[in-house]
Amino acid sequence: MAKPPAFSCTACGAAHSKWSGRCDACGAWNTIQEDAPLSAAGPAATSLGAARGAAIRLSDLATEETPPPRATSGIDELDRVLGGGLVPASAILVGGDPGIGKSTLLLQAAARFAGAGLPTLYISGEEAAAQVRMRAQRLSLETAPVRLGAETNLRDILTTLETEKPALAIIDSIQTMWADNVGSAPGSVSQVRAAAHELTQFAKRRGTAIILVGHVTKDGQIAGPRVVEHMVDTVLYFEGERGHQFRILRAVKNRFGPADEIGVFEMTGAGLTEVANPSALFLSDRDRPAPGSVVFAGIEGTRPVLTEFQALVAPSPHSQPRRSVVGWDGGRLAMILAVLESRCGIPFAGLDVYLNVAGGMKIADPAADLAVATALLSAREDAALPADTVVFGEISLSGALRPVGQTENRLKEAEKLGFSSAIVPERSKAGGTGLELKPMGDLAQVVGEIFGAG
Ligand code: TYD
Ligand code: MG
Repeated sequence: MAKPPAFSCTACGAAHSKWSGRCDACGAWNTIQEDAPLSAAGPAATSLGAARGAAIRLSDLATEETPPPRATSGIDELDRVLGGGLVPASAILVGGDPGIGKSTLLLQAAARFAGAGLPTLYISGEEAAAQVRMRAQRLSLETAPVRLGAETNLRDILTTLETEKPALAIIDSIQTMWADNVGSAPGSVSQVRAAAHELTQFAKRRGTAIILVGHVTKDGQIAGPRVVEHMVDTVLYFEGERGHQFRILRAVKNRFGPADEIGVFEMTGAGLTEVANPSALFLSDRDRPAPGSVVFAGIEGTRPVLTEFQALVAPSPHSQPRRSVVGWDGGRLAMILAVLESRCGIPFAGLDVYLNVAGGMKIADPAADLAVATALLSAREDAALPADTVVFGEISLSGALRPVGQTENRLKEAEKLGFSSAIVPERSKAGGTGLELKPMGDLAQVVGEIFGAG
């Protein structure tokens, strides 16, 4: 049996078989320490390892514990994304691009939670107290019982939290926090990691729910590595296009609720307002049926949402035609193009392809395949789909259409919004709606029957 390495770097965690002054994995000096084995028995036990730990108490899987009580803000779009409200002692990370509206959202949430009787602290490390008060005034929240602090020193913040014992503390942002026992600059990986660690530990120890705001860097990561995401219970992303007023709060990880749940907001002159019916919002710009435009009946989290795919196919002046996609996966687009080409005989060589999800939505639902294929065909054949039609279904590499989950919910939402027919995979189990269904076995059938091509 190989002997486990007995040294590791305290900065990056790399394992080493012997001590040296510098870690060759991360380059840090004087960070390599001998690992003290914790096992009490066995031949590897040293004098340190001989100390016995206490045996832990084991239990059965059956439990009589009640689910955690939750505090609701009354902002339904937020409460639902949290999994049905705020869980006490939980740590939540809200990430997003600078300027997207994180501080606005959290100040509004703070006011609502505080108004509902939850002692709430809002600590801003980015703005002076006066600036936050001005925002509160703009949002007409100046009378909300939120306690406000402007501070970046983590030691002082923790002391304040110890004495105030709020039920909810919002830290805006984790990148501005500064722990004086860590030797690097605020915003650096080790500072972010140390601050997130201290604050999440505090949440568990004292029962305070902590919301950390994190800016996302250009490459789409919450600055500081993903470590913060691992430390917290819930990770929410606040997304949206700068030019659009829609904002989407998306749960990417949630120990207390479904991931992939979304909440939809609109940024107005007086803050964020909830959008209870996102389908109507995402489809509101549609006028007449247009070639390349297809309405997709999707599911986001637990909720059906209709969105519009727009495709444009044009002769390319380049030897390498363009494939441009916004709001969907580029690799998946390449796959759909390949299936259309090799299974249906519809070539896209020499053609530029642009694909866009209207309204700044990002779609990850695999059922979007058929909507994308239909939009591409519609654009290429210059044939508009009837305006009253929705589309969904997954496409396999053979070109076959696979049924997808929640067919009935998708159809019901479409019916509610005035659609009257749906192109769906053949084996979809659907009923209970008045929509006229056009079941399709494979993509070649869609090409032939819907577009009369192929
Ligand atoms: P902010 O919450 O400061 O963003 P973040 O904390 O994510 O950096 O929001 C910044 C933008 O929101 C800013 O461009 C102004 C706009 N805004 C409104 O449109 N309406 C409002 O009521 C508020 C407070 C901000
Ligand atoms: Mg901010």
